[in-house]
Amino acid sequence: MKESYITTAIPYVNGNPHLGHVMDYLLADTLCRYMMSKGVKVRFQAGTDEHGNKIYKKSIEAGIPVQDFVDQNATRFQEFIHSLGVEYTDFIRTTNPDHERRCQAIWKQLGDHIYKDKYEGWYCEGCEGFVTDTEYADNDGVCPDHKKPYTKLSEENYYLRISDFKGEIRAKIESDEMKITPAFRKKEFLNLLKNMPDVSISRPKSQVSWGIPVPGDEEQVMYVWIDALANYITVLGYPDNDISDYWPADTQIVGKDILRFHAGIWPAILLGLGLPLPKNLLAHGFITVNGEKMSKSIGNVVDPTEILDKHGLVPLRYYFLRHASTTDDSDFTWDKYEAAYNELANDLGNLVQRLATLCKKNAIAGRKVIHRDEPDFDAKMEAYEFNFAFDLLWKQISDLNKRIDAEKPWALAKTNPEQAKEVLASLVDELLTINERLAIFIPTTSRQIEDIFTDTNITPPSTPLFPKN
Ligand code: MSP
Repeated sequence: MKESYITTAIPYVNGNPHLGHVMDYLLADTLCRYMMSKGVKVRFQAGTDEHGNKIYKKSIEAGIPVQDFVDQNATRFQEFIHSLGVEYTDFIRTTNPDHERRCQAIWKQLGDHIYKDKYEGWYCEGCEGFVTDTEYADNDGVCPDHKKPYTKLSEENYYLRISDFKGEIRAKIESDEMKITPAFRKKEFLNLLKNMPDVSISRPKSQVSWGIPVPGDEEQVMYVWIDALANYITVLGYPDNDISDYWPADTQIVGKDILRFHAGIWPAILLGLGLPLPKNLLAHGFITVNGEKMSKSIGNVVDPTEILDKHGLVPLRYYFLRHASTTDDSDFTWDKYEAAYNELANDLGNLVQRLATLCKKNAIAGRKVIHRDEPDFDAKMEAYEFNFAFDLLWKQISDLNKRIDAEKPWALAKTNPEQAKEVLASLVDELLTINERLAIFIPTTSRQIEDIFTDTNITPPSTPLFPKN
């Protein structure tokens, strides 16, 4: 039976994970939890991109053999993903021998869609990408992301003939057979596709030694994109295994900067292999600091562990899933983070504390979770507007707070205890109903709330869920 398959971009392991990396994982995790809440079985891939010059150079700087260097950093990324409360089912490393062998098989299968030619032009080491003359001119010869001048290259490379597939790719994107979200990025990409050249997929060994050898040519190694993109199917065992239970992926989640590789090169590879295209590509925005992209090369990186150390995991998930947009850029500042923490404490933490206290005083026994369909919420989730779906949930939490204030069960308890009990039971039922969806975003808190209000005797937690400092 076909299962759902959700993928994340695999980060380069040339340094520690940074705050920019949280979006891929949190969005994928949220989508998985949402689908699982609908009874869908989900396979969720994560991994690390471990080849290329940037990584090789960093290992030399660190004085560590390159394989040891990538081993260390891959472990850091795995720990980082776990620290976000993200539960993937598969982890793929591009230096894994099975992946390397499968990439070589994929290369061979692409056959005549690959040809050798001379490349002369501009290159950005930070992006590990070739730069067109137009891009060079538009950016005055300096990469806007990495703030480093482009370098000139002249070398022999293998190329993937994107031109073989352009028409088909365009048709599948236009018809939403491979749907790009948000729509403005679909438009942007379709414009880019018009002039998209064939893409270099190898480099001479003399220039890049840390890569997968090209089968049948000892002088060349695969250049990062084919090796990296193939991870989405090699992790499923392609071409050794039949992957039709999982492929095509339901949703591939990537940052906006790498959408063009996933919407252009990746479909060309898939079509060359005779495989279907993913159903959805979700391109998220960037986390910025003072309006600038966070990047190791720029040096304005915020360490996510600092955020985790401040108030723990739940506020981090809350901030990036509610106050960061799923599709646009979002700024991080400590002030905004503190404000978000106070919201959690005031709106949700207080609600749990005071409702549980009232229940204990009035001897309310634990209640059962009553499920309620929420078409508006589902519509937002299905449109990948996770932050707006979370807003809807928060509105319900605010409304419940207002209801408690209006119905005053503490006053009612003095005049009509039986009615007070009914009111409290109904407030608990509503909280448990809302809480079912809270599990999609902040699962540990949702579990705590469920435990409190379904227990034989409802008792407030000994410390509030979100203590004030
Ligand atoms: N290795 C490639 C991806 C290959 S996927 C087959 C790569 N790595 S990366 O480390 O540069 O980026 C990994 C992911 O993090 C990408 O989705 C990228 O867009 C995302 N982000 C990196 N910096 C980011 C922010 N500042 N904000 C949000 N996401 C950003 O690209």
